[in-house]
Amino acid sequence: MYNSKISGLGYFVPDNVVTNDDLSKIMDTNDEWIQERTGIKERRHVIKGEDTTSTMGVKAARIAIERAGLDKDEIDFIVFATLSPDYYFPGPGVLVQRDLGIKTVGAIDIRNQCSGFVYGISLADQYIKSGMYRNVLVIGSELHSAGLDMTTRGRGVSVIFGDGAGAVVLSREEDNTKGILSTHLHSEGAHAEELSLIAPGMGKRWVLDILEDNDPNDESYYPYMNGQFVFKNAVVRFSEVIMEGLKANNLGPADIDLLIPHQANLRISQFVQKKFGLRDDQVYNNIMKYGNTTAASIPIALTEAWELGKIKEGDLVVLAAFGSGFTWGSAIIRW
Ligand code: UT7
Repeated sequence: MYNSKISGLGYFVPDNVVTNDDLSKIMDTNDEWIQERTGIKERRHVIKGEDTTSTMGVKAARIAIERAGLDKDEIDFIVFATLSPDYYFPGPGVLVQRDLGIKTVGAIDIRNQCSGFVYGISLADQYIKSGMYRNVLVIGSELHSAGLDMTTRGRGVSVIFGDGAGAVVLSREEDNTKGILSTHLHSEGAHAEELSLIAPGMGKRWVLDILEDNDPNDESYYPYMNGQFVFKNAVVRFSEVIMEGLKANNLGPADIDLLIPHQANLRISQFVQKKFGLRDDQVYNNIMKYGNTTAASIPIALTEAWELGKIKEGDLVVLAAFGSGFTWGSAIIRW
């Protein structure tokens, strides 16, 4: 059995900065409400036509592959996590294979929303552990702004989410005290609809029903979130799954060098920080600049933290996520 380590990492965010004041010009919201409830000051939105979820993923992936010191044809498998794919099908994994000009390796898409990246590296880790693959590209990318209700009706959701992409290359590590030590994944489908986007789906309303209704006020095309319920579940599940990961490795909160939580809400990160007694410099947050970028938030934050020199060899880095599904998970990494 091998371990897998992060051998390269990169991110891409669109240049277009959208501040809270910008949003207050198009809906009934304000900077004070957004910052107080979420910590967000600004986010990035793609300018229509300039990028898609897959093209942002490709940009982040190129950086990750180069930093891994690999040729693109040394990538053995592609994992792409997103809730905002370019197409309903096929998923963006194959678009990355095409756009990077990688030989015909396998590509898989992960539909686990905010936990998508943690699920993705868990999957990649198993392929590497088993010896099946040596280098796996894992991407998290989201283009939320294309599908948000940017009116007052949608303000409870639309002020939170932003666009961007992050990517890592996971590579074989022979020393099994290094790299990804473990991942832990969970789901609770009882709450599937509490954070969801129902259309276009093949559930109770079929595509023909939607076409027949032809209703411009159809809200099922927009994400729905029961914010307070999600918040309450998030703080519990984040804490549980971090402890689960630490315990599985005979470690405790005092061993954490850097926690990178999914950037759901600064208040959630602060709650978890307090619960585990971590200092400010032991938790990396960038939701202030980018909002919640769902599957992209951890790889963007991880890359930024690494670029800023906040991760040193031998550090214990903990990733944790919670979101729609509900799904949640953690990864314990010895850098
Ligand atoms: O990444 C996936 C996981 N997602 C999360 O973890 C998100 C978890 N939830 C949250 O972060 C918070 O619940 C929110 C930030 C989404 C909302 O904060 P809240 O404190 O739960 O606010 P609320 O939804 O209870 O709304 C409070 C008030 C309402 O007005 P009334 O009914 O009290 O008059 C809303 O209509 O704030 C109003 N409101 C807004 N006001 C200004 C909702 N959105 C906005 C807005 N600007 N953007």
